[in-house]
Amino acid sequence: MGAAKVYIETYGCQMNEYDSEIVRRVLTGNGYDFTDTPEDADIIFLNTCAVRANAQRKVLQRIDLFKKLKGRKQGLLIGVLGCVAQNLKTELFNSGIGVDVVAGPDSYRTLPELLRRVQETKETRCATTLSVEETYSDLFPAQQSGKVNAWVAVMRGCDNFCSFCVVPYTRGRERCRAPDNIIEEITALAAKGYKQVTLLGQNVNSYKYEGFTFAQLISAVSRIEGIRRIRFTSPHPKDFPDDLLEVVADNDKVCKHIHLPLQSGNTRILQMMNRTYSKEEYLALAHRMRERIGNLALTTDIIVGFPTETREEYEDTLDVMRQVEFDAAFMFKYSERAGTAAAQKYPDDISAAEKTDRITRLVDLQRSISLERNQRHLNETYDVLVEGTARKPDQLRGRNDENKIVVFPDNGAQAGDFVNVRIEEVTPNTLIGVAVQPVT
Ligand code: SAH
Ligand code: SF4
Ligand code: F3S
Repeated sequence: MGAAKVYIETYGCQMNEYDSEIVRRVLTGNGYDFTDTPEDADIIFLNTCAVRANAQRKVLQRIDLFKKLKGRKQGLLIGVLGCVAQNLKTELFNSGIGVDVVAGPDSYRTLPELLRRVQETKETRCATTLSVEETYSDLFPAQQSGKVNAWVAVMRGCDNFCSFCVVPYTRGRERCRAPDNIIEEITALAAKGYKQVTLLGQNVNSYKYEGFTFAQLISAVSRIEGIRRIRFTSPHPKDFPDDLLEVVADNDKVCKHIHLPLQSGNTRILQMMNRTYSKEEYLALAHRMRERIGNLALTTDIIVGFPTETREEYEDTLDVMRQVEFDAAFMFKYSERAGTAAAQKYPDDISAAEKTDRITRLVDLQRSISLERNQRHLNETYDVLVEGTARKPDQLRGRNDENKIVVFPDNGAQAGDFVNVRIEEVTPNTLIGVAVQPVT
């Protein structure tokens, strides 16, 4: 009998993408093989997201689908990893769901042992102890992303406890990796041919390791040969340090793009959200960023319909959007998450129809702002890091420094190449152009 084959499907944020590669590393180190086809697998893992009710629902539907494969393949195991695992724990074993293994984000080292026990005893197993120190720093993840961008978690967990958010409960306490260890990982990635790294943390500007700051970490990463672009996500607007602003502005390898989650433009709602900044403070910070960094792309996350949010308060969010002119925004309807402070303190009192109405207007406004922002790129030429083929035939797709998607006719460039592209047409989400220089 050959090695057992594992299939893994990943949902949620980039941290989960990174973690799936940690899981891959742990299991390949223990004699498992991986497959891209669920029908071929002996073990199916879902690495899951619990941030909104919809995300969690999707996981349960997916499990239901995979459960059908169990009838066809004896001994097939289904495992839930990530934030839903941590959030629901043994509830996932409730009758009929069909889950055999549950492992939270800090329990991936135990997977070989868990699988062995489940196979031996035919009983379910759950590992969801959160750690204050686990960073998997000795396990450089496998990285499967086609050698363009590598995700690198520089810290794990979150201590912010925004009142709406489940992440501090699913990911546990904040902990940072040692800079030397991060540099070692990225040096190895550069040697494998990766051109770009994205440094990940739920709140990267609180990165600190024995006095070493996030800005210092970025500078150190920029000295690694072969790494041409550095991105990071996400900083928190409450305390964006000056040295970080300087390094984004002055270091050529650091992309001129900052994702700065707003959540709401109203100070009372921000207080209820425990975001610890006001509308005015956010506006001042965004202004300072745009002043200091030429051609900066600013993107954001917004929630509409937080408990008690009035129409007038919601208008403050639109007002901030108009003033800041975000290049892009991820917009969400408030989704109550059990166990969070908001769920305990505030009834989810904005109707579904009202939330839909609010988000529709927000999306419309952002589309027009994105289009306007993108029009400034017309006739400009950008260095584009090619990611692969575009949806349209004979077109390639990549990103410029500002993280905008650029599409252009295939000129033979490969994923990982840099191409100079002149922009000739724009939509709210895409810059469309032609290559003006041969492949570099
Ligand atoms: N740590 C990141 C965000 C992680 S979650 C940060 O603070 O930047 C990504 C986004 O999901 C959040 O920024 C927020 O806009 C949204 N989100 C989180 N919890 C939510 C909830 N309960 N309902 C709706 N949206 C939510
Ligand atoms: Fe959630 Fe806030 Fe932490 Fe982001 S900073 S993960 S929104 S608690
Ligand atoms: Fe989702 Fe967990 Fe990321 S809840 S957004 S996968 S940290």
